[in-house]
Amino acid sequence: MAIEKTYSMLKPDAVRNHHIGEIIARIERAGLTIERMVLEPVTPEQAAANYAEHEGKPFYDGLIAYITSGPVVKMVVSGEGAVKKMRTLMGPTNPAEAAPGTIRGDFGLIMDENVIHGSDSVASAEREINIFFGE
Ligand code: TYD
Ligand code: MG
Repeated sequence: MAIEKTYSMLKPDAVRNHHIGEIIARIERAGLTIERMVLEPVTPEQAAANYAEHEGKPFYDGLIAYITSGPVVKMVVSGEGAVKKMRTLMGPTNPAEAAPGTIRGDFGLIMDENVIHGSDSVASAEREINIFFGE
């Protein structure tokens, strides 16, 4: 498998609920490397760019309000098959459907606050790393 980079983000509920350390420990235990990391708010521009594919959907306005509601941890994570490995560690989008042992299953309760973001493909990862860490 190729070495990949992915964009991951610990969302405002993860920061508020003091889950940063445990989540990062899981990422590192999976053999992945944190390449860049910063704790700061998501700007309105970053939120709109990251979630452009969801514009117009019923949950869009709530999603933008939530993701800009407090600081997040923005990360570039690298390693063999990093994109899929992170998605596996995260679990499915809805925490109510996420198995115990996954990050969303263990630290999330509802779809509106699902703890963590991870790019869904290598192409998305490049786009998102540029949104959050580009010049
Ligand atoms: P999506 O890209 O489908 O999920 P993922 O984060 O697993 O890639 O959706 C982006 C975010 O939008 C998701 O993390 C939570 C939110 N969302 C809702 O609030 N309601 C919904 O019905 C969906 C599909 C997503
Ligand atoms: Mg997505």
